[in-house]
Amino acid sequence: MSKTLKIAVIAGDGIGTEVMPWGIKCLEAAAKVYNLSLSFTSFDFASCAYYKQHGQMLPDDWKDQLSGFDALYFGAVGLPDVVPDHVSLWGSLLQFRREFDQYINLRPCRLMPGVRCPLAGRKPGDIDFWIVRENTEGEYSSIGGKMFPGTEREVVIQETVMTRTGVDRVLKYAFDLAQSRPKKHLTSATKSNGISITMPYWDERVAEMAKGYGEVKVDKFHIDILTAHFVQRPQHFDVVVGSNLFGDILSDLGPACTGTIGIAPSGNINPTGKFPSLFEPVHGSAPDIMGRGIANPVGMIWAGQMMLEHFGYKDAADAMLRAIESVLAKGDDVVITGDMGGKGDTKSFGEAIEREILGSK
Ligand code: NAI
Ligand code: MG
Repeated sequence: MSKTLKIAVIAGDGIGTEVMPWGIKCLEAAAKVYNLSLSFTSFDFASCAYYKQHGQMLPDDWKDQLSGFDALYFGAVGLPDVVPDHVSLWGSLLQFRREFDQYINLRPCRLMPGVRCPLAGRKPGDIDFWIVRENTEGEYSSIGGKMFPGTEREVVIQETVMTRTGVDRVLKYAFDLAQSRPKKHLTSATKSNGISITMPYWDERVAEMAKGYGEVKVDKFHIDILTAHFVQRPQHFDVVVGSNLFGDILSDLGPACTGTIGIAPSGNINPTGKFPSLFEPVHGSAPDIMGRGIANPVGMIWAGQMMLEHFGYKDAADAMLRAIESVLAKGDDVVITGDMGGKGDTKSFGEAIEREILGSK
């Protein structure tokens, strides 16, 4: 391994700053065992503390400061009692996603051992799929407007934007991912029976893209019945791809079907490598428990694992995932955190996973 993976560390607010050290320790452990070269550079911006000092979430030259990194390893941002959420989120995380053209939002939906599944009768191995969400256009456009506000004639319009470039690039990513997996199965989320222009277009692009992936089995469901299938037959899925809105809904529903928010990770990815990709836990800054050292560090550590997997460090990534699974499977009461029913803290949980990684080879 010669290339150094350059990682910008942005811990942010609240429990982001508490779980981040364990994410880094676990990545360093994986780097040590699997002989990877990782470099970490920390930044204090994209936090409410920075905002209080500077009146903005990011320095003016943030893009220059971060562009040269391969990845951003991000904790969580937001302290609503200090800075309104729309200011803190739009002023930081959403800038990264947008300006760095992170057009893929990727989330695993995997039932881990030791996690109580909210769906009855499911065991680890039964649920193991990925949700690929389009992250830049679709229903989340700012095209539209309001006329005659406050009157009887009030009218509001907001447009869905789908471009061939935007749709094709997310489909390509999802098809590639499906192709790389044993089941080679892609499911597309649609609603072409109700949304009569953009969704038939989406379906058309799926059919076109499928022609280049003969081995991938493709199916599609309307979003309404698809949400029911997530709950009733989650074992059906392998890779699920959706537009920005459908992907948003599915990427909360999927992980919710596999347990606690404390363990879920996500990637905001620019697959071209032109700009850095961002890896973060799904949870926020959890002001209700911050400062007590009791936050579950698994989401942060798993996000680091996704980062290694994204950059192709398969052995190290596999070892990290196995370490997380093994510590969860043991479910040791004094190790795991309160959100999972244990009496442990961030340190005991993080340390156990770190130790497992160090002993993995
Ligand atoms: P949250 O995810 O911070 O917390 C929701 C609930 O889950 C809380 O009861 C919290 O204690 C618990 N929880 C979350 N992560 C946990 C962990 N690792 N271990 C144990 N318990 C955990 O969501 P909430 O409360 O809606 O938002 C709080 C702040 O975080 C807001 O400012 C919000 O805007 C921000 N936020 C930021 C995100 C990001 O940076 N990507 C994502 C979601 C929210
Ligand atoms: Mg969401």
